[in-house]
Order: sequence, then C-alpha cells, then structure tokens
Amino acid sequence: MNTIITVDGPSGAGKGTLCQLLAKATGYALLDSGALYRLTALAAIKAEVALTDVQALAKLAAGLDIAFNAAEQGVTVLLAGKDVTREIREEAVGMAASQVAALQPVRDALLMRQRAFADGSGLVADGRDMGTVVFPSAAVKFFLTASAEERAKRRVLQLESVGQKADERQILTDIEARDKRDRERASSPLVPAADAILLDSTKMTIDQVFEYAMATIKK
Ligand code: CDP
Repeated sequence: MNTIITVDGPSGAGKGTLCQLLAKATGYALLDSGALYRLTALAAIKAEVALTDVQALAKLAAGLDIAFNAAEQGVTVLLAGKDVTREIREEAVGMAASQVAALQPVRDALLMRQRAFADGSGLVADGRDMGTVVFPSAAVKFFLTASAEERAKRRVLQLESVGQKADERQILTDIEARDKRDRERASSPLVPAADAILLDSTKMTIDQVFEYAMATIKK
C-alpha cells in the first residue's frame, strides 16, 4: 500500500506537529521537506556558497550527504555525518532556506529525493508543494493555515520551550517576509492544491486539528 497524505501551508501553521502525530497514528513514514531546504541552506552557509549562486546551490542540493534517523525522542538530522538537528532550526537558516527554495534548479535537484521517501509503506509529507508538485496524486491533501499573528505567537512559545529568546515582533516580521516570498515566487508558489482540504487552525488546538485530520483520512 502506498497511501500518501500531504500537508502544505505557510510557515508556523503547525504542519510539523500535525505530520508527526499523523505519522505516529498511521505508522507511515514522514517527509519533512522543509528540512531538505534548510539542509541545502546550511550546507551553502558552511561552504560559503552565495545564496545567489544558483548553479552552485543546485549542485549542493543534488549532492547533499544527509540522513534522517528516527528515534523515540524524535528525528536526528545528519549533514555529512554531523548532527545538525538544532542548527537547521535556527532562524537564520530558515531565512536562508526560504531564499534557496525560491530557485527552480534547487527545487528540481530535491524533487527525486523527496519522491524517494514514498517507498510503498505509506507517507505523510510536510511542505509547501507536496500536494501540488511533488505528490499530485496523493490520497488525502490538507492545506493548513493560521493567521500570521497566531503563527508568530506559537513560534515564540516553541523557541522559549527550547530555551531560546524570542522577539515576537521580529518573528512576525520574518513570518510575513517568508509568506510573501513563498506566495510570490515564480517556482512552485504556495497555493493549495485544487483538491486540498483547507484547515484554518487559528482558533483550534493541535489536538483538534489532529482529530479532524484523522477523521478525514478514515472516511
Ligand atoms: O519553519 P518553516 O515552516 O518556515 O520552514 P520549513 O517548513 O522548515 O521550510 C523552510 C523553508 O523551505 C520555507 O521557508 C519554505 O520557503 C521552503 N520550503 C519550500 O519551498 N518547499 C517545501 N516543500 C518546504 C519548504
């Protein structure tokens, strides 16, 4: 069985948490496609490749030496054998990821790598273009949103929970910049798939979102 569930939407809407819960409940594998863009950005920063050098970035993306190791405490992400789980979550890496993700050659380089996660045992795919480009024939597609203000609040709580300081106004500005870039880029702009189920989580708890999504999947 190769059931694919896609969850797309803007930054900080709760896709990551929802996808982890769905993967656990269904036993399917999980693709965090944003991590691939973050890894490309981090590899570029480490190799001092300019975020405007399209060909060099595409080459880096195609040759990324990465591994996702699932464990009880969560997924560990390795880049060239080094644990970068925390590093790829830094705001600066997120901003750089959003820049490299706007480049079509980078997206092309990561396409096959993403499709390879669908190895026949079911997949929950988290991203921006999972339902539109990467897995257009997925069985169930969700488009998860929340207001920018609510997403900024959640991000602050998330950063504080791991002991990082957070400036809510700055985070809101960053989220709005990222939204704009995701929506307006020429390559795979952020739009719901025509057959996606729209879910606005502004006034919902994560448990409510999860229960709604599970009920939809079981239908
Ligand atoms: O935390 P946030 O939701 O902003 O980021 P993420 O899901 O980890 O993705 C990092 C960046 O990669 C985002 O800013 C998106 O622009 C980009 N991305 C994308 O273009 N396509 C995807 N399928 C996933 C992420």
